[in-house]
Amino acid sequence: MKRQQKTAFFCQNCGYESPKWVGKCPGCGEWNRFAEEPVKSADSRLPPEFRFDGKPRPIDAVEADEKARVKTGIGEMDRVLGGGIVAGSAILVGGDPGIGKSTLLLQVMHRLASAGKKVLYVSGEESASQIRLRADRVGASSKSLYVLVEVSLENILTHIKEVAPDAIVIDSIQTVCSSMLTSAPGSVGQVREASERLIVLSKKTGIPVFLVGHVTKDGSIAGPKVLEHMVDTVLYFEGDSGHSYRIIRGIKNRFGPTNEIGVFEMRDRGLVEVSNPSEYFLTERPEGMAGSVVVAAIEGTRPILVEIQSLVASTSFGMPRRTAIGVDGNRLSLLVAVLDKIGGLHLGNHDIFLNVAGGVKLAEPAADLGVVAAVASSFLDRPISPKTVVFGEMGLTGEIRGINQMEIRVREAARMGFKRCVLPRTQLRGLDRAAPIELVRVGHLKDLLGEIF
Ligand code: TYD
Ligand code: MG
Repeated sequence: MKRQQKTAFFCQNCGYESPKWVGKCPGCGEWNRFAEEPVKSADSRLPPEFRFDGKPRPIDAVEADEKARVKTGIGEMDRVLGGGIVAGSAILVGGDPGIGKSTLLLQVMHRLASAGKKVLYVSGEESASQIRLRADRVGASSKSLYVLVEVSLENILTHIKEVAPDAIVIDSIQTVCSSMLTSAPGSVGQVREASERLIVLSKKTGIPVFLVGHVTKDGSIAGPKVLEHMVDTVLYFEGDSGHSYRIIRGIKNRFGPTNEIGVFEMRDRGLVEVSNPSEYFLTERPEGMAGSVVVAAIEGTRPILVEIQSLVASTSFGMPRRTAIGVDGNRLSLLVAVLDKIGGLHLGNHDIFLNVAGGVKLAEPAADLGVVAAVASSFLDRPISPKTVVFGEMGLTGEIRGINQMEIRVREAARMGFKRCVLPRTQLRGLDRAAPIELVRVGHLKDLLGEIF
């Protein structure tokens, strides 16, 4: 008689293993995520052909292969990857359904194929003809771009060996399933098994592999957080279905900077790079309206000018609302409290809405002055000059603090034709003479309110 396979309960979010069902995951704190799955015994973990036969060796005997970075030829993508695709790396591309992950990777593969590489695009979601239609639409048909419609992990691995491509896309990792496991496709066990074996294959052969991952509604890559630990690079493809711009953001990168972004526009013939994002994000800016201000932010290594908009309206009933999109809500409440108490703006019975135009997310404190200026401008109904840009951090006593990379921000503002820059009082090195822009230094909230209008 066949021995019954041992099972355990696994958190479908973080992969936590428990012998019995639990409501709240002790690992990640999520509720109702446990599902029963077979346990893999230790000896079945990796088939022999995937084992590394590593031996310890001195680090200077290991060759560092910097030339192994392959440029995709799509500038914004290379930037996020830290200069190109590293051989043997596993890159997870996450994003909401319909955002353009398949389109982006098809275009990346096409570029590689046109550069003489053989690439394999594995899809478990679409038929070959659907992929062909999309390829025609974005102009990505090429002799050395191979398409495989398959969901079985074992078959995919066999085909990879046969084709011996220079790069692989798995679209998506949630559709791949191994016949060695009995659990359903998309479950933690399956996703982990498939990624593990694809990653090992990629490390052993040096073939870079892109894994497309679906994102759950709470914003994490569906099922396994574990996946994020296993891969070398995690990219999120974001955007708003109502707009055509798309931002690809590096969340984790073992071979380059994180928090770097690449900006694209979705057109009817695929994704097009936006190489001057400041200009792009400012195109629809209403000039001379109260509540709008431009801040100079840094995304990754690059300065980007974005517009912050605020609307302050008297509260119609009960508690005043504070709503922030693109800026942390707690940060907004804090800054509003400082404006109220120290700046003397009585915002207590006003609703405050704040939005960063273009769907950009500002996580750095440098945006503080922008938030304060936008709220004050809307509350006082006084427009800020459209040729003014602001940045700086504000403390709880209303003091304005210096931030990093101020010179780069000022230069970007000058390049984009801004005439006036309101910034912290901290020293700038060698900029005053160079930049054709008036620098207004402020040390306190009161100075700021006196200077921006
Ligand atoms: P897709 O790459 O299928 O998204 P994902 O793989 O992330 O689910 O993109 C689908 C969307 O992109 C769809 O709404 C149509 C749009 N699109 C364009 O606007 N132009 C194009 O050239 C292509 C190929 C798609
Ligand atoms: Mg897709």
